[in-house]
Amino acid sequence: MKIKVGKQLSTTVYLVPEETKLEMLSDETAQYALKQMKFKGQLNEKFVYLGPNTDNIVVIGLGPLDQLTKDHYVQATNTAAKILNEQKFESTSVQVTTYGTIDESEVLQGIAEGFLQTDYSFDYYKKDKTFNSLTKVSLLTDLENADKLIEEVVNVLKSVNVTRDLVNTPANDLYPETLATKVEELFEGTQVDVEVFNKNDLEELGAKALLAVSQGSAKEPRMLVLKYLPLGNEEPVISLVGKGVTYDSGGYAIKSAKGMATMMTDMAGAGAMIGALHAIASNNIQQNVVAVIGATENLISGEAFKNGDIIDTLKGTTIEVMNTDAEGRLVLADVLYYAAAKLNSKYIIDAATLTGAVIAALGPNITGAMTNNQALLKDVTTASKTAGEDMWQLPITPEFREKIKGNHADLINSSINFVGAGTIFAAAFLEHFVEDVPWVHLDIAGTSYASSKGNKYLPKGASGIPVKTLYEFVKSSK
Ligand code: BES
Ligand code: ZN
Ligand code: ZN
Repeated sequence: MKIKVGKQLSTTVYLVPEETKLEMLSDETAQYALKQMKFKGQLNEKFVYLGPNTDNIVVIGLGPLDQLTKDHYVQATNTAAKILNEQKFESTSVQVTTYGTIDESEVLQGIAEGFLQTDYSFDYYKKDKTFNSLTKVSLLTDLENADKLIEEVVNVLKSVNVTRDLVNTPANDLYPETLATKVEELFEGTQVDVEVFNKNDLEELGAKALLAVSQGSAKEPRMLVLKYLPLGNEEPVISLVGKGVTYDSGGYAIKSAKGMATMMTDMAGAGAMIGALHAIASNNIQQNVVAVIGATENLISGEAFKNGDIIDTLKGTTIEVMNTDAEGRLVLADVLYYAAAKLNSKYIIDAATLTGAVIAALGPNITGAMTNNQALLKDVTTASKTAGEDMWQLPITPEFREKIKGNHADLINSSINFVGAGTIFAAAFLEHFVEDVPWVHLDIAGTSYASSKGNKYLPKGASGIPVKTLYEFVKSSK
């Protein structure tokens, strides 16, 4: 899809808040919309007037003026784009208009994103590919830096799609080694330096928890360290840490067929960090950022780790593996500690498909956020609001810091007796490995993937959450 600043075409989209008088339309058409069709301007409400002998317009509601955000523009524009595709239109112009206090550059970027969000489908493995008729969008705006603003959104959405492709790709094609190769290819010739740790390197390093999880797999694990350092090697970095379990069978604590069916997406945290770094680097954001990815499969074999094993970690903390299906926190124990102790991290943000419990707590469309630093979390949630990716905080309490203590080892990875709040238990466990570096943990088990229809304008399958949030956070970080 080509989005450009341009002139009025034969079809035009208008986005309007509630209680609009539709002054931009002819009197007759405005009366028809308001009186006959009872158009109110509620979010995603449509007035469609297309075809021969019409004004060839689509009007979409933005909802109440006092609640207007950039994401409402994304949603409304996406609704318009879907209508135009259904009606086989190839091009449209869009009136870029701000209402209330929202900035015109945000409006423009929201509109561009609304179109671009229709442009993704994962059909690599299908004979019949999805086809969209709408390929040309002309934005009607006087904004001087409009081209630059469009380019920024295009780069971010390309990066979101990088994440989606990685997450959607099945585990027979995407495993630690192929993930590493894809990432090397992705960043070839860019400012991002890709360092790959293979099994030997991990043994030398002492990443014993990551190695324990990978024991049951015929495929070797990898750790990826992606460095984007535009401020130079000396300046501290923002570390983005991702759970990259390319397939989670549960191990000996085996999952059901239903529970396992989508477990190729258990590397969505890793996928998001790769996508976020891609967005940051391709838009030349002036911040030092390092992504650290722990990639492994969690399978069963005669070599596999077992329930009851006591394992060591990079930090030296021992862990009693009460449940081999609580493997993500073991992988993260090592990669978080690597970010905290081996890199000059000023902040650490991790994303992980860590617990089914977060879906019970917050549903499929809200990411669970936990922290050891309230000020950092505030900045992350501010970014998430701009990005339209909902998050809600869960606490880490002293009670849970007690519950993670081990019987015969320092820690347990899971409680055998039900203690509730599995998402908080997991976060308390992770907190042990971040060495007091300001840290936010994002549990994206619910939000990273939709088995049926996606939320809002998001596609079915991988959502690309939380790439946009991380991009906004890093961009506005001090
Ligand atoms: N990868 C799963 C979490 C998950 C569940 C992601 C559903 C996406 C959708 C994780 O490794 C896991 O299995 N967690 C267990 C933890 C339990 C054994 C303490 C869970 O949530 O049941
Ligand atoms: Zn698991
Ligand atoms: Zn998992």
